Amino acid sequence: MDFKDLKTKVQKEIKTIKDLNDLDKVFRNYLGKKGEITKIFNTLKNLSIQERKKIGKQANLLKNEIEKNIKEKSEEIKEKISRIRVEKEKIDITRPGIRIKSGHLHPLTQVKRDAEEIFQSMGFSIIEGPDVETENYNFDALNIPKEHPARDMWDTFWLKEQNLLLRTHTSPVQVRYMEKHNPPLRIIVPGRVFRHEATDSSHEIQFYQIEGLMIDKKISAANFKAIIEEFLRRFFKTEIEIRLRPSFFPFTEPSFEIDMKKGTGDWLEMMGAGMVHPNVFKAAGYNPKNWQGFAFGIGLDRLAMLRYKINDVRLFHSSDLRFLKQF
Ligand code: FA5
Repeated sequence: MDFKDLKTKVQKEIKTIKDLNDLDKVFRNYLGKKGEITKIFNTLKNLSIQERKKIGKQANLLKNEIEKNIKEKSEEIKEKISRIRVEKEKIDITRPGIRIKSGHLHPLTQVKRDAEEIFQSMGFSIIEGPDVETENYNFDALNIPKEHPARDMWDTFWLKEQNLLLRTHTSPVQVRYMEKHNPPLRIIVPGRVFRHEATDSSHEIQFYQIEGLMIDKKISAANFKAIIEEFLRRFFKTEIEIRLRPSFFPFTEPSFEIDMKKGTGDWLEMMGAGMVHPNVFKAAGYNPKNWQGFAFGIGLDRLAMLRYKINDVRLFHSSDLRFLKQF
């Protein structure tokens, strides 16, 4: 093949190349150790001086030109690669951003936090107790011995382990706290409670209560009424009609229940309350002659129902986003 044909052939090949690997192959095929052009140089020594000069010159020209072509092609490919990369990375600053949707607190959590804040400002500390409770703290220490008919007031989920249950109310934490602390005291205990009962629009098998306990030398039902009225006024930010009904709890004497008026004009039972029973003081190691106190247990879900005008308590645990997104 003469130099002209060889040059045309190589340049044609270089023209069609699109990536650096293929270009490297061309380099090796012609200019590498065993490349076609290199071979020409290797044969020069067999030629006469004159021919060697002539062919050598042509071969050098060809070699320089092909090297130049390969270099140009390599730059062209590199430039193309970098152009594509820049285009890919280019940010269109006129494009609208993606709004990050942030969640919000569950309505029951909002109610819990608001209630905690109000009670804290009135000097109450926030205390917690276990969801899985012993029979003793849930019943016996609260003056509800075995076989006492009052145990029927709470349909209980019992655990297989002896004497353990899912607490039916937050009242056991009263005793747990009194055992470890001396009066005077003011605590609230927000927490989850469980009851094995049929559900309806105001009853769930799992709901929240806020227990309250205030003990001092001279505490009366009047103190309870004042505290709870102040709480409700600040929580609902408006006057809410309430009524106190005499009731029965084995751990308070006297006992009452507090109802609140719904928008519909019906009453909704909101909490149980009363003056701490002497037997509970005894179970906790206090002398009932020296101390007096009131206790209450508010239905937190019911507070939320009234605040947000929800007519079915079961919606709170339904995980229905259409419902939850409204808060
Ligand atoms: C009690 O649980 C007592 N431990 C309250 C108490 C505490 C009385 C301290 C005296 C002293 P009761 O079972 O009535 O009482 O429940 C208290 C409140 O929890 C009710 O007034 C109601 O608001 C709420 N509640 C009761 N059962 C349910 C339920 N199934 N679903 C949602 N809320 C409920």
